[in-house]
Amino acid sequence: MNPTLSSAWQQLADHARGQQGSHLRQLLAGETRFAAFSREAEGLLLDFTRQRLDARTLELLFDLAAHADLGERIRALLAGERVNNTEGRPALHTALRRRHDRPLRVDGRDLMQDVAAESAKVAAFVRDVHAGRIAGSGGPFRTIVNIGIGGSDLGPVMAVEALARFRRPGLGIRFVSNVDGCQIADVIAEVDPATTLIVVCSKTFTTLETMTNANRARQWIAERLGKDALARHFAAVSTNHRAMDGFGINLDFRFTMWDWVGGRYSLWSSIGLSLALAVGVDHFHAFLAGGAAIDEHFAAAPFADNLPVLLGLIGAWNVNFLGTPSHAVLPYDQRLHRFAAYLQQLEMESNGKRVHRDATPVGHATGPVLWGEPGSNAQHSFFQLLHQGTADVAMDFLAPVRASNPYQEQQELALANCFAQAEAFALGQTEEQVRAELAGKGMSEAQLAALVPHKVHPGNRASSVILFRELDPQTLGKLIALYEHKVYVQSVLWDINPFDQWGVELGKKMADRLVPAVRDPARAGGQSAQVRGLLEYVKRWR
Ligand code: F6P
Repeated sequence: MNPTLSSAWQQLADHARGQQGSHLRQLLAGETRFAAFSREAEGLLLDFTRQRLDARTLELLFDLAAHADLGERIRALLAGERVNNTEGRPALHTALRRRHDRPLRVDGRDLMQDVAAESAKVAAFVRDVHAGRIAGSGGPFRTIVNIGIGGSDLGPVMAVEALARFRRPGLGIRFVSNVDGCQIADVIAEVDPATTLIVVCSKTFTTLETMTNANRARQWIAERLGKDALARHFAAVSTNHRAMDGFGINLDFRFTMWDWVGGRYSLWSSIGLSLALAVGVDHFHAFLAGGAAIDEHFAAAPFADNLPVLLGLIGAWNVNFLGTPSHAVLPYDQRLHRFAAYLQQLEMESNGKRVHRDATPVGHATGPVLWGEPGSNAQHSFFQLLHQGTADVAMDFLAPVRASNPYQEQQELALANCFAQAEAFALGQTEEQVRAELAGKGMSEAQLAALVPHKVHPGNRASSVILFRELDPQTLGKLIALYEHKVYVQSVLWDINPFDQWGVELGKKMADRLVPAVRDPARAGGQSAQVRGLLEYVKRWR
């Protein structure tokens, strides 16, 4: 299906052309816009008053959704149909947060029994670690080291940071992902192996970065505590039981997942073990319940009130019709400082595609470049470019009303800044306004001519504000599920498969072939001239 051929797409393109030259200042002039362009559901407020759209845009976007058969495609996702068509699998991360007493039959089998059994195993393990019933050679565990990368790292690290105020005291947690050895070296230098539990997270248990770090950790434990200690200091999460056997993971300390859980959707599975260890079983379950609440909303709410659908449609409007290829996520809560990094994998690994599900090339833009930082810091670094540079970047501002720390009055400063920035990006500051302000300070005509253009803010920068009461486990679950489903909505509009990631393979394969040449320049023979040039420097500077 080529979505650009649909009449809805054509009408949206015409509508966007018709809106050229209009400014958010005009759209925001009245008093009624907030009521018309904001929605609250499941404790999340989505305020999209500052998006460059009107009621007609929304109508046409809903037509586009209908043309893409979005309702049916949502049903297919949640029912466990093989929506990941290139790998022939369902994408059932929603099953991981579904109530265990609600059966979900896929190929004649109730998956919820497997999910419930695994979830109970995780919960029992976590409780045993917390109670000291499962302990290290030197007594109860004091440090958890999560070794994993991509979805086996970004989710756990983001969520552990986000829920820092729910952490169990006395249990430190470290994350090791990068292959270069810095993180594992720091762990080895800084923590006591006798009270450290290493959790190796890898869906495949073959990932170079993870296995390299896991083997380094294994060597460390064996050297410091003896080989017999390995079984009590390692746990693992994987679908690859043979590889876990090979590594020597204790049968009671290994957890499984299923091929229908994508890496970037796996925080809800046993991959969330480090999060559950960090915050405890009850908070982990509250996190799952938050995700489930959004699943139900996604399945049932009409498109006009459906937060993930709205977020997906607004994003497509920006990318496809207003030509905004970049999207910044700006939380006004330091605890969400890894949220954009997490969303980068979720959105860009999912929708960074260039062919339709039927393998024909796409004729339109797909996923935008997503990036971001906590808003306070961003204001003092890259907001300059967003306000006055030439690039057009769409933005999501996220903020809790209640502080994620004891200092509510500081969160009020954050909120004021968040709302002020959204307004400033939308409204800007015209030449007339700047001129009047400076003239009021007594500037001469020559001074005004020299300074005014530098102080003009064009405005008309599109943004949404996502506001919630507080960043607790449930809300974090809701936020993640909101973005997961937004990604799915967009994949449906674009008719691409968001659940595969073939684009990460080529570089991996080439790296495998390069390792011997980097280690031994005498083996650089098969490499290109430019790589041999680099290898020469490796030899010289090693
Ligand atoms: O980078 C590709 C990728 O396959 C991601 O999709 C995945 O989250 C990551 O590698 C880690 O994979 P694994 O959990 O199998 O180690």
